[in-house]
Amino acid sequence: MKLGVVILAAGQGTRMKSDLPKVLHRLAGKPLLGHVIDCARSLSPVEIVVVYGHGGERVRAVFDGQQDLQWVEQAEQLGTGHAVQQAMPVLKTAEQVLILYGDVPLTRSETLQSLVAATEHQGFGLLTVTLDNPTGYGRIVRNDGGRVQRIVEQKDASAEELTIDEVNTGIMCVPRERLAEWLGGLSNSNAQGEYYLTDVLAMAVADGFDIQVQQPASAVEAEGVNNRGQLATLERAHQRDIAEQLMVDGVTLRDPSRLDVRGRVTHGRDCEIDINVIIDGDVTLGNRVRIGANCVLRNAVLGDDVEILENCVIEDATVGAASKVGPFARLRPGAELVGEAHIGNFVEIKKSVVGLGSKVNHLSYIGDTEIGEGVNIGAGTITCNYDGANKHKTVIGDRAFIGSNSALVAPVTIGENATVGAGSVIGKDAPADKLTLTRAKQVSVDWRRPTKK
Ligand code: UD1
Ligand code: CA
Repeated sequence: MKLGVVILAAGQGTRMKSDLPKVLHRLAGKPLLGHVIDCARSLSPVEIVVVYGHGGERVRAVFDGQQDLQWVEQAEQLGTGHAVQQAMPVLKTAEQVLILYGDVPLTRSETLQSLVAATEHQGFGLLTVTLDNPTGYGRIVRNDGGRVQRIVEQKDASAEELTIDEVNTGIMCVPRERLAEWLGGLSNSNAQGEYYLTDVLAMAVADGFDIQVQQPASAVEAEGVNNRGQLATLERAHQRDIAEQLMVDGVTLRDPSRLDVRGRVTHGRDCEIDINVIIDGDVTLGNRVRIGANCVLRNAVLGDDVEILENCVIEDATVGAASKVGPFARLRPGAELVGEAHIGNFVEIKKSVVGLGSKVNHLSYIGDTEIGEGVNIGAGTITCNYDGANKHKTVIGDRAFIGSNSALVAPVTIGENATVGAGSVIGKDAPADKLTLTRAKQVSVDWRRPTKK
């Protein structure tokens, strides 16, 4: 069966009180609409149409270049039925049409798959939920035999209908050609003066359809975002799901409510994550990786047995097996620790390779540098990689020892086994195997401290 998906995303989102269109607000680091589009894609539809309105150009720009999306503007928001109607001329090959909402981000693919499957033979499928407090939602009206007859909106409902606790999620899957007919017959003579998509259901029933109702595993799947409170609630629900899955997959989380994953994390066995960790973008953890409290990992690859101590920020960086980083270290883009490295507190590393077993333990800046194996970089060492106009490279050979508080003025090369005396400013290459130092000679003179008059 050929499936088409129509995503309604034209609403203004007034209650967000934002200059950003509602569907561009982020959940787990991704725009709300992005979640819905990705879920739609998981169903392998033949076409996806997004109906946009308010702030439309900004919405389109975010998804620019995604060839499988078609965009239709709904200039005036005259109701959900009107919105779907705008999409109909664009749909070409779909036999069934699934209607989703750009501000309902957490619907699971499995839920939609079973809804779609239930309508395989030109059926009419509807996703409903049963709520303790159904206020505001369209109510599902069933006949004495339990068959769904129509949907009545809150504002149009009688007192008796308002007691119904089964509500419309808005998500439905319907035959395209029939939908086009039904939409053509909609009227806006109702309490809101809108063309209600929900009215097509009664038309389908009149045409002899037996409505296939499905319910999601959790009501969260049908919840929309209208304000920032709801956005935060759904963020938590989503993070909780991710955390549960990580634990099922064998990751120890010291507190599942204090982890935020805003991207994808893949991991080996027996990893441990302490509290208040943010994982952003694509992060890969090997086996037995330990991450301390308050770390941010953004697009990072961590090898087996890596230990990240508390309060580190690691971005676009690779940490080789058995390395130890932190506390309070910052690995910036292009940092590559080959393995068994020690990077200590208040050390910043950018666009540099740190060879096997090398140590940069305290208070250093290492930028545009190649450090060999078994190197020791003393406390406070700075690579002076920038002359105010251009960046230059520092090369430090295997087993070199850089004394504390040295400045290595790039471009410069420190040979293998070289030793640099503490406090040196090294502006010329330091040869292998030698001690190089630029320290002023130490003198002692007789001297009397001034005294107060
Ligand atoms: C709608 C349903 C209601 C259901 C509820 C679930 C109708 C008539 N009612 O009500 O039965 O319980 O959703 O949340 O469908 N939109 C457009 N263009 C429009 C109007 C709406 O794109 O002209 C989009 C909005 O951006 C939003 C969605 O459609 O994402 C729902 O619109 P909204 O006005 O919030 O519908 P409700 O009144 O809540
Ligand atoms: Ca409305």
